[in-house]
Amino acid sequence: MVELGLIGCGGMGRTHAQYMADVPGVRLRACADISDSAAQKARDEFGAEYATTDWTKLLSDDAIQGVIVATHHHLHRPMVVAAAEAGKPVLVEKPLALTEDDLVAMERAVAQAGIPCIVGYQARFSPFIDKLKEVVPRPLVTMGQLIDPHWGEGHWANDPIEGGGNVLSQGCHLFDLMYWLNESEPVVVYAEGGNFTHPNTPITDSVCVTLRYANGSVGSAVVGDFGTPALLGKAAYQVFDGKRTATLWGYYFSPEIRLWGADTSGFTMDDLPEPVRNVPGAHGYTQELEAFAEWITTGEQPRRAATVRDGVRATRIALAAIRAIETREPQSLPQIG
Ligand SMILES: NC(=O)c1ccc[n+]([C@@H]2O[C@H](COP(=O)([O-])OP(=O)(O)OC[C@H]3O[C@@H](n4cnc5c(N)ncnc54)[C@H](O)[C@@H]3O)[C@@H](O)[C@H]2O)c1
Repeated sequence: MVELGLIGCGGMGRTHAQYMADVPGVRLRACADISDSAAQKARDEFGAEYATTDWTKLLSDDAIQGVIVATHHHLHRPMVVAAAEAGKPVLVEKPLALTEDDLVAMERAVAQAGIPCIVGYQARFSPFIDKLKEVVPRPLVTMGQLIDPHWGEGHWANDPIEGGGNVLSQGCHLFDLMYWLNESEPVVVYAEGGNFTHPNTPITDSVCVTLRYANGSVGSAVVGDFGTPALLGKAAYQVFDGKRTATLWGYYFSPEIRLWGADTSGFTMDDLPEPVRNVPGAHGYTQELEAFAEWITTGEQPRRAATVRDGVRATRIALAAIRAIETREPQSLPQIG
């Protein structure tokens, strides 16, 4: 049995705790939140041993084999670095961090400790994304969009320090997934956009990005909270290799794929095997937890898991896009060796 500790018992922390029940061999041991009532509520609801307002207690609990960090973005660095220093494997929610400084410190701490570290890009585990990769394994062109309904001015994720705004907070999901569909390092970022819908908050909320990857393929990404697209839904992806095309839309709530040039015409929830059919776990949350437990117990890095390196890359693309808007210049990305 792999015993886990949860740091941050808000929306996403509770989602992880909820999916743990579907993962045999994983158990929630402790819940930490700065809010006593949030920690206790999670403990009672998800059957953990104890609740605490001091997250560092989880790092000195020998029975805890890994921690999940599901706090706001500015807390990821101190929590991940402390987990690494304590030798505790960590699953940290996205984005890994919001600044280059934090990214470098976190990657270094994880590498020095040699701990398993997964960043919360659960879409990599989705059977819908598997299908895109199966039909178009080597895309020439990738299109992606992640478009939220308008985030209120007071939303924590719009705070420049705590959240970073939509492009950093959500764009990282899209940039990681587009990397995963290509499995080639992005080399140049072109972007236009800016602050279109939050006049009182100094963040970048909307962007159109063009990416070139090391293997010569290109990508086009649109990110922002400028309104829910009624037809395609919040997230949609298309991959093209000149012979086959795969289009996925409605990803979060009612995913569906249409194919062109392939053996079948499409793929829906009904094509999934019974245990995952019509459950949001099909989107990768349970598989991500399984991968975390597998890495902890076997020491082998699961292929689909987003590592600290993947977390660094995704934020770097978002930061480069923001710089490209500010400077009106394309941005080269440092190459990950
Ligand atoms: N992977 C995904 O698809 C996905 C979806 C939603 C959110 N997220 C990510 O999950 C993370 C959390 O977001 P959320 O929506 O759950 O936020 P939230 O505000 O609902 O929850 C954050 C929790 O952290 C707690 N907290 C604050 N300071 C703390 C401290 N010092 N020690 C312990 N707990 C502390 C808060 O009290 C709160 O309960 C963010 O990184 C967010 O981007 C990921």
